[in-house]
Amino acid sequence: MLAIAIEQERLDWREQPAPPGPEAGEVRLRVAWAGVNRADLMQRAGHYPPPPGASEILGLEVSGTVAEVGPGVDRLRPGDRACALLAGGGYAEEVVVDARQVVPLPEGFGLREAAALPEAFATAWLNLFMEGHLAAGERVLLHAGASGVGTAAIQLCGAFGHPCFVTAGSDDKLAACRELGADGLFNRHQGSFVEAVKGWGGADLILDPVGAAYLADNQRVLNVDGRLVLIGLMGGRRAELDLGRMLMKRQRLIGSTLRAKPPAAKGAILDALLTHVWPRLARGEIRPLIDRTWPIDEAEAAHAHVERDANIGKVLLAVSGEG
Ligand SMILES: NC(=O)c1ccc[n+]([C@@H]2O[C@H](COP(=O)([O-])OP(=O)(O)OC[C@H]3O[C@@H](n4cnc5c(N)ncnc54)[C@H](OP(=O)(O)O)[C@@H]3O)[C@@H](O)[C@H]2O)c1
Repeated sequence: MLAIAIEQERLDWREQPAPPGPEAGEVRLRVAWAGVNRADLMQRAGHYPPPPGASEILGLEVSGTVAEVGPGVDRLRPGDRACALLAGGGYAEEVVVDARQVVPLPEGFGLREAAALPEAFATAWLNLFMEGHLAAGERVLLHAGASGVGTAAIQLCGAFGHPCFVTAGSDDKLAACRELGADGLFNRHQGSFVEAVKGWGGADLILDPVGAAYLADNQRVLNVDGRLVLIGLMGGRRAELDLGRMLMKRQRLIGSTLRAKPPAAKGAILDALLTHVWPRLARGEIRPLIDRTWPIDEAEAAHAHVERDANIGKVLLAVSGEG
């Protein structure tokens, strides 16, 4: 099969061995579209190795057609169109994945839009509701609001009745976030978000992909009993935690990564999405925001776009490009 190889940090679309399998409980997908995630850029730069046993090939999510199913798989059949949350291997013509990580497309969806769903919506759902335990009416602060994850999280907040405040790096991005339902906005290049978020009412939950650079300010705006869910380190990994503030305000700091979770845990998140989010996608109440697409052999250009922080929503790669 053809797949992306990393050659001295360059992305090269070339012939490689197809993955073995499917073994019991697995399926082989013929990939139509692959989603680009920030993690792919980090893996490519050598900072984010795949978890043990996962493919070395980049790519955490795809859409495609089931080509083959292993013993014991009864939910999926050859010919089914589906999307999948992967631990790796998506930038390729074929991928083999545990069937629990594969879900049908929302009603009315094509393969292109479906490739934009798994990673962003699973991350947003996991951290808002499963790790963050949002209770009725609680208020949310989302950093990197115009990212793939951010654009999904804004809409989930809206759909489930949680006011959300977003930070992002340009006024265009903030306008897009407002359109998706954000009701507090702050341009991160205009100083600290603390006063703006406090004036808005503070946050009961913060979804934070930034880390060190935001830790002190996040603690300042986190309400009593608030949860700070750390999902990335774009602003560094070492910072001082104010334990006094944490203690007195009963704040909780939660570290969270989706990629290394076992198939059963990924399956549980996808099951929750099937129940609570797929019907809303089918009704058009929520939508994946697709910024741009490139053919897979131009993955280099797609990565450069994401690296420049230029995307609003998801960037996709056409593999077969089937719609
Ligand atoms: N833990 C997990 O399980 C998990 C899963 C998925 C994603 N993530 C993390 O979630 C984040 C979003 O992922 P994605 O793939 O959706 O990203 P994305 O679409 O590539 O967007 C990332 C955005 O983050 C903002 N940003 C970049 N550097 C920043 C910095 N130093 N401080 C503040 N903001 C910065 C930029 O937007 P602005 O111009 O608006 O600032 C950039 O466009 C990433 O950090 C990713 O690693 C974590």
